[in-house]
Amino acid sequence: MMFPEYRPRRLRQTERFRSLVRETCVSKDHLIYPLFAVPGKKVKEPISSMPGVYQMSVDNVVKEAREAFDLGVPAILLFGVPEKKDSKGSHAWIKSGIVQKAVEAVKKAVPDLLVVTDVCLCEYTSHGHCGVVVKEKKGIFRIDNDATLELLQKAALSHARAGADMVAPSDMMDGRVGAIREVLDDHGFEHVPIMSYAVKYASSFYGPFRDAAECAPQFGDRRSYQMDIANSREALREATLDMEEGADILMVKPGMPYLDIIRMLRQEFSLPIAAYQVSGEYSMIKAAAQNGWLNEELVVRESLMAFRRAGADIIITYFAKDFARANS
Ligand code: PBG
Repeated sequence: MMFPEYRPRRLRQTERFRSLVRETCVSKDHLIYPLFAVPGKKVKEPISSMPGVYQMSVDNVVKEAREAFDLGVPAILLFGVPEKKDSKGSHAWIKSGIVQKAVEAVKKAVPDLLVVTDVCLCEYTSHGHCGVVVKEKKGIFRIDNDATLELLQKAALSHARAGADMVAPSDMMDGRVGAIREVLDDHGFEHVPIMSYAVKYASSFYGPFRDAAECAPQFGDRRSYQMDIANSREALREATLDMEEGADILMVKPGMPYLDIIRMLRQEFSLPIAAYQVSGEYSMIKAAAQNGWLNEELVVRESLMAFRRAGADIIITYFAKDFARANS
């Protein structure tokens, strides 16, 4: 019997060899840390379905942002839970809105930290949908895509005015990247990039987030605007549109269950790709770790490595601070 000459194992025998030939690396430089801002002072309200994650008033958001930055996390992603919700989500774009105030305060306190804002209406609407809801007939509702675009433009512009370094539309309305690009350009914010939630599935992994952001839909679901979990070619169409409309970064969401989609986008596009390790993914790891069933630090590292191996440049993760602390 003939044996092949090459023995892969030779290069696995010591850590020096292993790291010499390692194909992928993950570091805190690639991470974005999501934070939830709420009105009030000195608020730090635990989110029961996301152990270790809190709703925080602006003072505590600033504190948390500074801690993350000091540990080497380069960016945060801000979500807001407003004082008041209404049918159009008007607190999404008012100057004194919660995200706008949080952006201003963080940029003032930690100017070198990149502040990204989530642009969507669902946290601000009384019905919890990401767009304007119109009644077709009794019991039948529809999202008015184009009416929503104007509101998203207002929200994105208000974030840029407050000092956001980048905006991230997560609503999944058609045409929103182009609409936001146009309004930013028209108001002197040509330099503010758009990270588009280009491929966002109608996923059940967002459950804990909806507790955190208090944005569960009051009726119906998001399947008319978010993607069918069964589809992958559709991801290419969504991403192509967003790229053509001027997206600077394409995001895939959720993360781990959609590594195939990350890989596909990596192969088809030259834009930077971001992966969002969403709330449900976070909570699963946390719950198992709290039971002593998984080693949290190692599993987090492995999950982040998987995103990088699949082709993600950027990873949005609630573990950003923990990972940075463990790897500093
Ligand atoms: C919607 C939005 C959602 C998330 C980010 N932006 C939830 C949804 O679409 O229902 C989910 C993030 C997570 O689960 O961590 N604005």
